[in-house]
Amino acid sequence: MDTQTLFEQHIATLQDTWSQALQHTLPGCEAILVHSGGSHNYFADDHAPPFKAWGHFLRWAPLDRPDQFVLFRPGHKPRLLALVPRDFWHDQSLVTEGWWADSLDITFMENLSELASQLPAPATLAFLGENQALAAELGIPAAQINYPHLLSWLDYDRAVKTGYEINRLREANAHALCGHDAAEQTFRAGGDEYDIHHAYLAACRVLDQELPYSNIIALNEKAAILHYQNKRRYADRASQPPNRVLLIDAGCRAYGYCSDITRTWAAPDAHPVFHELLAGMQDLQEKLVRSVRPGVSFADLHRQAHLAIAQLLVDCDICHGDAQALVDSGISAVFFPHGLGHLLGLQVHDVGGRLANRDGELAPPPAAWPGLRNTRTLDAGAVVTIEPGLYFIPALLDTARAGPDAKSINWTLTDELMPFGGIRIEDNVLATPDGADNLTRNA
Ligand code: GLY
Ligand code: MN
Ligand code: MN
Repeated sequence: MDTQTLFEQHIATLQDTWSQALQHTLPGCEAILVHSGGSHNYFADDHAPPFKAWGHFLRWAPLDRPDQFVLFRPGHKPRLLALVPRDFWHDQSLVTEGWWADSLDITFMENLSELASQLPAPATLAFLGENQALAAELGIPAAQINYPHLLSWLDYDRAVKTGYEINRLREANAHALCGHDAAEQTFRAGGDEYDIHHAYLAACRVLDQELPYSNIIALNEKAAILHYQNKRRYADRASQPPNRVLLIDAGCRAYGYCSDITRTWAAPDAHPVFHELLAGMQDLQEKLVRSVRPGVSFADLHRQAHLAIAQLLVDCDICHGDAQALVDSGISAVFFPHGLGHLLGLQVHDVGGRLANRDGELAPPPAAWPGLRNTRTLDAGAVVTIEPGLYFIPALLDTARAGPDAKSINWTLTDELMPFGGIRIEDNVLATPDGADNLTRNA
């Protein structure tokens, strides 16, 4: 199906779900005004960080610009109220493409003061977005600004992707894989973190600011830092340590939709046990991916991942004892301290991962794993990441070494493996009635 038709169907689905949301949560309102967000300067400065539009706005209009608005009214063609200021400092040209623009009625404004005249009576208007002061200035009652029940309804529904959204997520995956290939080659050729980062950007032909999140490019021991942010560079190549392990967590965006992919590569001369762990984690990750299907509890998948990682640690002689006991005592969490994954979409950690229902009741994570971002039972059409990890994190190991279960860890081998950092393997997976569709591997 062509993109325009897919987008038309996407908008029709949104009209349906948003109509239900409005009717159930704010029956007195006849429309919703959604704001893309505002640009905010650094404190006491006249520069702003790169802007990213809010997900609930981007879902209607792929415009990554501040101060754009969608006006949704059940039964009417959605309107885009597009601010195009007169500004000779920046390029303000707004390019509309028929495949999406034909689904919207577009009105251009030069100034925000024109917004009010485009809207229905504020008493009947709900507002969604960060600029609550603007909503109040428009005369919208406080109770209709970011009304929690309306937001929870829309957040909950956003987990299920339309065909259009799934295609965009596939594109974001295919795009990022070009960069991952280049990164692996640069790692094998002896490049440093800076070289690998730039090889990724160049292969994808993207700018840093266009990434869904800052690339994590971690060599050797830095692979143990979950959100490692630096890009080490060596002016003097003779001082550069040999590349043993690369952990790269990097994605791309396709009209706002994100990919979030992690690969771990090891040089032939990495520790043999590290190679064993890597092979074991690859098998485990594939098995977990195959378990993604409608009706599956993500918290259960997370539990299975812990048990399997504990077993792998025992099989590789890093831990002693029974796998379940290692999970129960918290030792598996020393090596795997993050969640198995999260919802993915217009945000990398997409909204609604801990909602039990549209009414905003929460499904809290299991007490042992408070960081788990997704506690939902998967619906058909949900897209999640599956990203088991196994790391040698000095801070967590130090605590375990001083703790009551220190004897369940083989410290000689653990200390030998510390310089290799860790492993994470991450794919983006769609739950379909026929099982898992790995959007990353099938891209
Ligand atoms: N890239 C961040 C994450 O995997 O969640
Ligand atoms: Mn990631
Ligand atoms: Mn992720």
